[in-house]
Amino acid sequence: MSDVDFTYIQPDGEEKQVEAMEGMTLMEAALFNGIDGIQGLCGGICSCATCHVALDKELYDKLDAPSEGEAEMIAMLDDHGPTSRLGCQVSISEALRGARIRVLGTEA
Ligand code: FES
Repeated sequence: MSDVDFTYIQPDGEEKQVEAMEGMTLMEAALFNGIDGIQGLCGGICSCATCHVALDKELYDKLDAPSEGEAEMIAMLDDHGPTSRLGCQVSISEALRGARIRVLGTEA
């Protein structure tokens, strides 16, 4: 497992580059690195949506599609968009190297 570097764009626009281990999730890496706007209140079981992020279209298309449960949670969010994901459902992999992850900062 190697580290992958990518950047979170926090809700206030401030960018933070991080290195995270493959296999962690975007939610876990955000909490570990003190990223604003990611709360991960449900612990990653896809039931709180406090880990809402938007991906670049290119990255979104590269990853596996969201599960039905994730898609349903996202659809309930007012600010969801075509590349919305729940950070707890996205595993860090080489695909994320150099990516820019926009944190939407959904409140619980
Ligand atoms: S941490 Fe709760 S849905 Fe992602």
